[in-house]
Amino acid sequence: MKHLLKMLDLSKEEIIEILNLADQLKYENKNGIEHHLLKGKTLGMIFQKASTRTRVSFETGMYQLGGNPLFLSSNDLQIGRGEPVQDTARVLSRYIDGIMIRTFEQKEVEDLAKFGSIPVINGLTDFCHPCQVLADLMTIREFKGRLEGLKMGYIGDGNNMANSLIVGCLKVGMSVSIACPADYQPDKQVLDFAKEYGDKFFMTDKPIEAAKDCDVLFTDVWTSMGEEAETEKRKIAFEGYQINDEIMAIAKPDAMVQHCLPAHREEEITEKVFEAHADEIFEEAENRLHAQKAVMVLCMKDKD
Ligand code: CP
Ligand code: NVA
Repeated sequence: MKHLLKMLDLSKEEIIEILNLADQLKYENKNGIEHHLLKGKTLGMIFQKASTRTRVSFETGMYQLGGNPLFLSSNDLQIGRGEPVQDTARVLSRYIDGIMIRTFEQKEVEDLAKFGSIPVINGLTDFCHPCQVLADLMTIREFKGRLEGLKMGYIGDGNNMANSLIVGCLKVGMSVSIACPADYQPDKQVLDFAKEYGDKFFMTDKPIEAAKDCDVLFTDVWTSMGEEAETEKRKIAFEGYQINDEIMAIAKPDAMVQHCLPAHREEEITEKVFEAHADEIFEEAENRLHAQKAVMVLCMKDKD
């Protein structure tokens, strides 16, 4: 694997390879087994949006792998003053060994990979959030013991999380059922991809229909980063797109709940459901660390 730009680029085998390595690294981490697989390597981390989990898990993960994380706020980089991404890519490629970037446009991430000569890892764009979904799949497999044949339901905005979840879950053999308002559907590229999976993919605007018999339910914020000006409009559009007791009663009795966080209680999820599933949700947050370490190793480790 050269880069992690989006779930659409990964094969099922590559996803499973990442998850297996992530499980191994988690086991080693819990048992005090050192794994300096990226000794002497530097990861530049460009953030054009806020972050708690992505920043801390990449930074800590790089230390645990024996390498150096370099936090690069776009406020301090020339990229924030208009230096073209193709120049930034070629310059950074001469100093460091990998780039993690969180930004707005997917094209910026793809261009970094195209013009640079080092691995690029997508830490979230408006289009997708592949690192999160790898951690999500890891968590589902940890709790359910398998992925194949499970049903995932997503309720809310057809945003970056929805786009990556649809692709990731379908690729590993899960079925996907999603409920979003008509004006907030997932990206066309993702819907075209999903169509190829026939009745394994179902889309509706009714949360109750999407939740039926699900093994795992997901939601995400109604207003993503960069959309803050639409907050009030979105509160109206997303009313009822919430994981609550009524929705949980329609899913399987042992259904898990996942949320990438940050969560807005009483908007996309009730406090009660959130707290009842807090163990699953915070394991999911922890698994960002392990899944991303696996991605960094597979992209950045010297090939023998
Ligand atoms: N879930 C996630 O990506 O969290 P941060 O925005 O805190 O990085
Ligand atoms: N959809 C959210 C995810 C945050 C991790 C956003 O883009 O803000």
